[in-house]
Amino acid sequence: MDTTTLHEQNRVAWNEAANQYAREIEADVAFLRAGGKNFCPPEFEYLRDLNAWCDCAIHLQCAGGKDTLSLLNLGAKRVVGVDISDRMIEVARAKSAQLAAPAQWYRADVLETPDALNGVADLVYTGRGAIGWLMDLEAWARVVARLLKPGGKLYLFDGHPIGWVWDLAASEYRFDPDPRYGNYFDEKVATAQGWSESYIAADAVPVTAEQAKKHERQWTLSAIVNAVIAAGLRVERIGEHPDAFWTQYPHMPDDVRRRLPNTFSLLATKSKPL
Ligand SMILES: C[S@@+](CC[C@H](N)C(=O)[O-])C[C@H]1O[C@@H](n2cnc3c(N)ncnc32)[C@H](O)[C@@H]1O
Repeated sequence: MDTTTLHEQNRVAWNEAANQYAREIEADVAFLRAGGKNFCPPEFEYLRDLNAWCDCAIHLQCAGGKDTLSLLNLGAKRVVGVDISDRMIEVARAKSAQLAAPAQWYRADVLETPDALNGVADLVYTGRGAIGWLMDLEAWARVVARLLKPGGKLYLFDGHPIGWVWDLAASEYRFDPDPRYGNYFDEKVATAQGWSESYIAADAVPVTAEQAKKHERQWTLSAIVNAVIAAGLRVERIGEHPDAFWTQYPHMPDDVRRRLPNTFSLLATKSKPL
């Protein structure tokens, strides 16, 4: 299957997952109205002082828009969210309408982000379970580069690639016995159905044979950094963090889990012409 077909199947799967996000609209609106900022602790250091430099932030793979709208509470003057899932974008629109927020939403494959957004972003923000759904990371990095203004920044905060190899059900780090996972260097697409109970509540997506197939793949840290470099961006900083953005290992004690990185940060800039 080609990239477009795999992404299209992921759209259908994420439309199912959006049931859970739709249930959280009212709670998210209350959180955002109270000034909430839905980020993990390491992100705040990279997203500092947005009011001083960020007129427009574009959030790629914005899901239900909670993080996108949180960028306004961090100081961005306006935000744009892009997501392939129709239902996620509906959820995001419902929240921003209630908040009368300066936000625009586009339903699009990230690789087909509209050209109307070229060169408008001071910040492209993405992550927390984003890049593993993309089958062509070099094309993704080229999209980021075309969206940024000269001098604009990419901030990516995502699951650390080493997370691909571990058994999610284990109480200590142990290679995943499932042959689809467990190998850091594997470039094969892993296809699955259903959602982890600790991510999407079990009743949000009934597990049936007809449930949509979703496709993910591993990107090594070097593949990620090299895609960003190949798109012409300058990598400013990489961070590796023990912090997790979801309960990936429900049976692992925190003091064990935090001995290896669970997430990483990548900050890159688009150069200004000389
Ligand atoms: C784990 S979520 C992103 C994290 C987000 N912070 C959240 O609140 O869950 C992954 C998102 O990526 C979107 N997505 C997956 N493949 C995509 C693609 N090719 N283009 C755009 N969005 C995509 C899904 O629809 C989903 O909303």
